[in-house]
Amino acid sequence: MVVHASAAEMRRWCLERKAEGKSLGFVPTMGALHEGHASLMREAVRANDCAVLSVFVNPAQFAPHEDFDRYPRTWGADLAIAEKAGIQAIYAPKASAMYPPNYATYVQVERLQDGLCSGTRPHFFKGVATVVAKLFNAVPADRAYFGQKDAQQSAIIRRMARDLDFGIEIVEMPIVREADGLAMSSRNVYLSPEERTRALCLSRALFQVEAVMKVGERDAAKIIAAVRKEMANVDIDYIALVDADEMIPRDRIEGKILLAVAAQVGKTRLIDNIKFGNYGQSKPDLRGSAIEVPL
Ligand code: PAF
Repeated sequence: MVVHASAAEMRRWCLERKAEGKSLGFVPTMGALHEGHASLMREAVRANDCAVLSVFVNPAQFAPHEDFDRYPRTWGADLAIAEKAGIQAIYAPKASAMYPPNYATYVQVERLQDGLCSGTRPHFFKGVATVVAKLFNAVPADRAYFGQKDAQQSAIIRRMARDLDFGIEIVEMPIVREADGLAMSSRNVYLSPEERTRALCLSRALFQVEAVMKVGERDAAKIIAAVRKEMANVDIDYIALVDADEMIPRDRIEGKILLAVAAQVGKTRLIDNIKFGNYGQSKPDLRGSAIEVPL
C-alpha cells in the first residue's frame, strides 16, 4: 500500500494504473475509519482492479464553532483497516496543500444543498462539494463510494459529478449499523453511555415507520409526527421526508423518498435515514439500503 500526499503524485499513480488497463475505485473519507468505511472499501476492492482511499479532515466543511480540532484522527488504525480491506493507495494531503494561501475556488450544487443539514450547517455542502471535486481531480477513478448515512451528501456529489462531467460513477452503499441499530459514525465516540442509549431513538424512530407503512400509511405529516414522538428525548434538528434525488419536501410517500433525521444528543450531532422506493439494488430490509414500497 502506497501513501501519497501530493495531488500530482496521486494522479500520476492513478493514470499509470489506467494506462495498464486497470479500473479504479475510490473511497473518500476523513479517516477515523469504522466498519461503515470498511464496507465501502471492500466494495471498491471487489468491483475494481485497484482501490484508492483518501484520508483528509477537510477544514472547509467545518464552521468555526464545530468539531474540526477534536474530530478523531486515528491514522495508525486507519492504515491497518485500509490494508486489511485491500486498498492499494492512500491519498492523504496536507490542509496547506489543499487550501494554499489566497485559495478562492469553491463548488456549490444549487437547490440540493438547501434544506436538511444546511439548516444548522449552512457552510457544509460548499465545503464538501469543493473538497470532493479536488479529490476527484487527484484520483480520476471509475467509481467512487459513499455511505447512505450522508444521503444528502451523496445526492449532491452525484449531481456534481454529472453536472461537471467528472465521468465517475457515484455508488451509494447501505448504512452499516451497530447491533442495537445505531448508525455507525466517526462521531459516535463522543457519546457518553447515557447519550448513546438516548441516541438509539433515531434508528428506532425510523424502524417503526416500517410498521406504520405496513398498515398502508403514506401521509408524510403522519409519518413525521410518529418519528417526532419517538425522538422526544433528543434535541431534534430536523425530520424531513423529501424526494431522494432532488431533496424537495414531499407530502406523500410516492416514488423515491428519503426520510432523514438529525438531532443533537448532548454535544454530538447525529444523522440517520431510510429510503423508500425502488432503487434497483435495494433490499427488502429496513437495515439495508432501502425498502421497496408497493405503491
Ligand atoms: O463523508 C465524509 O467523510 C466527508 O464529508 C467527505 C465526503 C470525505 C468529504 O470530506
